[in-house]
Parts: sequence; structure tokens; C-alpha cells
Amino acid sequence: MANPSEKPVVLITGASSGIGAVTVKRFANAGWNIVALARRKERLEELAASLAGVAEVAIVVGDVADREVPAKAVQAAMETFGRLDSLVNNAGAGKWNRVGDTDDDTLDEVIDISLKAPFRFAREALAVMQPGSSIINIGSVFGITSGLAGGAYSTVKAGLIGMTRSLACDYGPQGIRSNLIAPGVIKTEMTDAYWESDYFQRTNHEITPFNREGTADDVANCVFFLASNEGSYLNGQVIALDGGWSTTKYVSPETLAR
Ligand SMILES: NC(=O)c1ccc[n+]([C@@H]2O[C@H](COP(=O)([O-])OP(=O)(O)OC[C@H]3O[C@@H](n4cnc5c(N)ncnc54)[C@H](OP(=O)(O)O)[C@@H]3O)[C@@H](O)[C@H]2O)c1
Repeated sequence: MANPSEKPVVLITGASSGIGAVTVKRFANAGWNIVALARRKERLEELAASLAGVAEVAIVVGDVADREVPAKAVQAAMETFGRLDSLVNNAGAGKWNRVGDTDDDTLDEVIDISLKAPFRFAREALAVMQPGSSIINIGSVFGITSGLAGGAYSTVKAGLIGMTRSLACDYGPQGIRSNLIAPGVIKTEMTDAYWESDYFQRTNHEITPFNREGTADDVANCVFFLASNEGSYLNGQVIALDGGWSTTKYVSPETLAR
């Protein structure tokens, strides 16, 4: 194990694109070192190279659904930096289908990536985390209200809320916090293909009472806040980062006029 680095250290899963990649940059620019994990090695290498001179980025290439990977990632943090202050369980894939149309392979895949993996990452991280550390899970508004074709995705994102609160209850007393961010819709590789479609507009943008779309920076800023001292009395919270979608019954003027 390395001597503990002076800079705090965050482990971010799903760091090769979208919310994860922007979150890596957010922490790097705030003076943290990073363990960045995903399957696409070249993407991670490009990201690390873009942060040369700003932060040290240790890369772990792996599939979060692989049972060995969570321990490997935490080990990388300890061997490279000698400490782990924050875990961001962000890796995930959009698989939307109604329950009746979801086959077993899809169900298993979604549960493995988005529920079992965060659980194992949390378990491994807790073994090395010190008081003052925190775990941040990336859920979804689909885990709170669900939505059309939520199916397995809504199921695992709701499960993550249970895990977040369980962690908060059991580890808060030793100074390790756990919170969840539930984004509405954010333009990333996950949503890019549908973003401009009429269906997506109606089921997302037109029910959001805000004058702009959500960005990966919005999520990264919230993640960083939760990990930082400024967020240090927040524990067991579910933060809907959705422009007011899940807490209002908004309909847009376009919808009202139809
Ligand atoms: N975009 C939205 O509107 C939205 C809304 C609510 C919640 N979210 C949540 O936000 C998180 C990030 O999504 P995003 O929008 O940023 O999507 P994205 O750009 O597609 O990023 C997904 C990330 O997860 C990684 N990943 C996926 N499966 C993996 C696996 N089996 N093992 C390791 N890494 C894996 C991908 O990397 P590799 O392919 O390189 O492995 C990628 O880095 C997800 O949990 C998603 O459910 C997104």
C-alpha cells in the first residue's frame, strides 16, 4: 500500500463518458486524485492524458459486473494513492422495456451492472474508508416515480435508494455518509440517439418545469458537493436533480395547447 497522498481520492465507475467523465474532471479541477474505471481503455487513457499536470488519474479497465473488479479497483486506489475518500457508483446502461417484455438475460444484466456492482463497490470501499468519507450513488428519477417502460431500470434504481439509506444508517455513526443523486434526463451517449425525438420531448422535456436542459456538469457539481465538506451533514438523501420534473405536475404550454 502506498503512503496516503495529500490529495483526497475518489473512485468513479463509468468514467469513460457522459456523467462519469465530466465528474472525473470536476474532482480533478478541485484538487483530488482519481481512480477512473470503465471497459473502454482508450477513452480512459484520453481522459487521463487531458488531465496531465492537473491530477493523477489511475485507470482500472474492467466490467463492473465482474465480481473481481470492485476489489481490484479499491486495491488500485490503495496501491496508487494509499487512501479512498469517496466512491461514485455511476456506471450504468439504459435498458428500457416493460416488465412483461423483459427477458431473463436483460433482467440479469441490468441487476448485475446497476445493483449488485454498486453494492460490491460499496462493500469493498467501506473496508478502507476513514471517517469523513462518502459514497454517492447515481440513481435516476425512474427509481423514484418510474416512467413508461421503466421495467428493470426503474427496479434497480429504486433498489439503489434502499442501499443508499442502508449504508447511511449503518455507517453514518462512524462518519461515512451515503447519498443518491437521481437525475432527470441528461444529454449523454445514453440519451443522445433519442434526445430530439418527438416521443422523448413529450415524455421528458415537456414535463420539466425549467427553462433549460440538464447537463452532465449539473450532476458532477452535485456529486462534488456531496463528497466535499460543504455537504458533510447530508446522509441518506435522495436528491432529484431534474429541474422539478418529479416533484411537480407540470405540463408545458405546447402540451396544454394540443
Ligand atoms: N443520461 C441520463 O439522462 C441519465 C438519467 C438518469 C440517470 N442516469 C445514470 O447516470 C449514469 C451515467 O450514465 P450516462 O448518462 O453518463 O451514460 P453514458 O455516457 O452511456 O455512460 C455510461 C458509463 O458507464 C460505463 N459502463 C456501462 N456499463 C459498464 C460496465 N458493465 N462496466 C463498467 N462500466 C460500464 C460506460 O463505460 P464503458 O462503456 O467504457 O464501460 C460509461 O462510462 C448511469 O448510471 C445512468 O443510469 C443517466
